[in-house]
Amino acid sequence: MGRPGLRGLHPLLSSPSSRLPVFRVFRVFQVSRVFCVFHVFDRVCTRPRGPLNPAGLKTHRIALYPGDGIGVDVTDAAVAVLRALEPSIESSRFELTRFDWGCRYYDQHGVVAPPDFIATLRPFDAIFLGAVGWPQRLPDYITLKPLITIRQTFDQWACVRPARTFPGVPGPLAGAPTVDLVVIRENSEGEYVDNGGRFRIGHPDEFAVQSALHTRRGIERALRFGFELARKRRHRLTLATKSNAQRYAFTLWDEVLDLVRAEYRDVETDKQHIDAIAMNFVRRPGFFDVVVGSNLFGDILTDLSGAITGGLGLNPSANLNPERTAPSLFEPVHGSAPDIAGKGIANPTGAILALAMMLDWLGEPAAARRVERAVEAVLGRGERTPDLGGNLGTVAFTEKIIGAATA
Ligand code: NAD
Ligand code: IPM
Ligand code: MN
Repeated sequence: MGRPGLRGLHPLLSSPSSRLPVFRVFRVFQVSRVFCVFHVFDRVCTRPRGPLNPAGLKTHRIALYPGDGIGVDVTDAAVAVLRALEPSIESSRFELTRFDWGCRYYDQHGVVAPPDFIATLRPFDAIFLGAVGWPQRLPDYITLKPLITIRQTFDQWACVRPARTFPGVPGPLAGAPTVDLVVIRENSEGEYVDNGGRFRIGHPDEFAVQSALHTRRGIERALRFGFELARKRRHRLTLATKSNAQRYAFTLWDEVLDLVRAEYRDVETDKQHIDAIAMNFVRRPGFFDVVVGSNLFGDILTDLSGAITGGLGLNPSANLNPERTAPSLFEPVHGSAPDIAGKGIANPTGAILALAMMLDWLGEPAAARRVERAVEAVLGRGERTPDLGGNLGTVAFTEKIIGAATA
């Protein structure tokens, strides 16, 4: 039924349909030419959508954080698509506020973002980020710090990273297998906790300690999110573990999986060590549906899931605070790609699909589907950026998407 891709994500991304603390809502979405009925949220929404303005339009307040390198180009592309679609989104308008934080901001201010950046971002309904980092200009741990702080402070614990093949886009794997998987990355703790130190710096016997932190609560909520998503998709969940060598953290992951899976008997479940998953993403990627992993495992797997679907430029990412107690953040999976920055050839597809995920989250599913269908149509016609073997620059490719989305 339906097409591969973001199928099954929509119910988890959708905004609550009213301001009341509800829910058990049914929604009807058009997915390609079929209608699917999904159970939506089964919980209380604590964060209403944007206010109504005098014209009776909803206002979605979006913070733009384009960042560095091609982050700027792909953010501009996503914004151009949004602005082109806006007239067709009759009941809403979008208020975009741009924050030019990153390397250039550092050159002027000595910091990559102002000290109060969290307070600045908190009132927004969503954050859209291009990419951060430019290691030749500044150490990554400086430029990337605000992004990690945003994810953790705003408790964006569910990082949703779909990866799919598109007709018209050649992939690197023999036999051109269809890939349609979603990695759920635990996004609030694990290996990304700022916990450690370097000692005897500069001495021959210097040493470093970096300890990950995995909580039962954090693991359980990531797994439950994955199971709910698997129920909307192909009913398979794989845990990325490494309990054969990491005998504290990943035995806990394994045990929590065993407890939670008992409540989801309709979902086929397996555990694979992270090294085996890396091999199997290449060897038999069609096996995978929903993959749940720790922060670092999810990070590594999603560069790989990008590569096996044709290129990292294709893949979107949603950093969700499912309780809506703070804004969620939407971005492409890829980085700032200094090697192609300024050349006008960045592939904006991942950013544009991240825009679609944001539209779903804000309660604009029809607009989100338009964006996705436009991407499918343009790529399906073989119109591509150079990373995918095409010859269209970022702006020309984006114009094609806008043409298809507004036709
Ligand atoms: P990268 O993802 O920026 O690039 C890896 C390779 O993929 C490069 O050859 C690049 O040209 C290509 N590529 C990536 N996105 C592309 C696109 N949209 N279109 C065409 N080609 C694309 O990874 P990197 O080079 O390891 O990292 C560069 C910087 O980005 C570093 O500072 C890194 O820390 C940072 N980074 C940031 C994020 C983020 O902001 N979320 C994610 C990953 C890496
Ligand atoms: C990603 C990136 C980030 C991460 C960096 C920029 C901190 O690689 O979003 O995949 O490691 O999470
Ligand atoms: Mn990454």
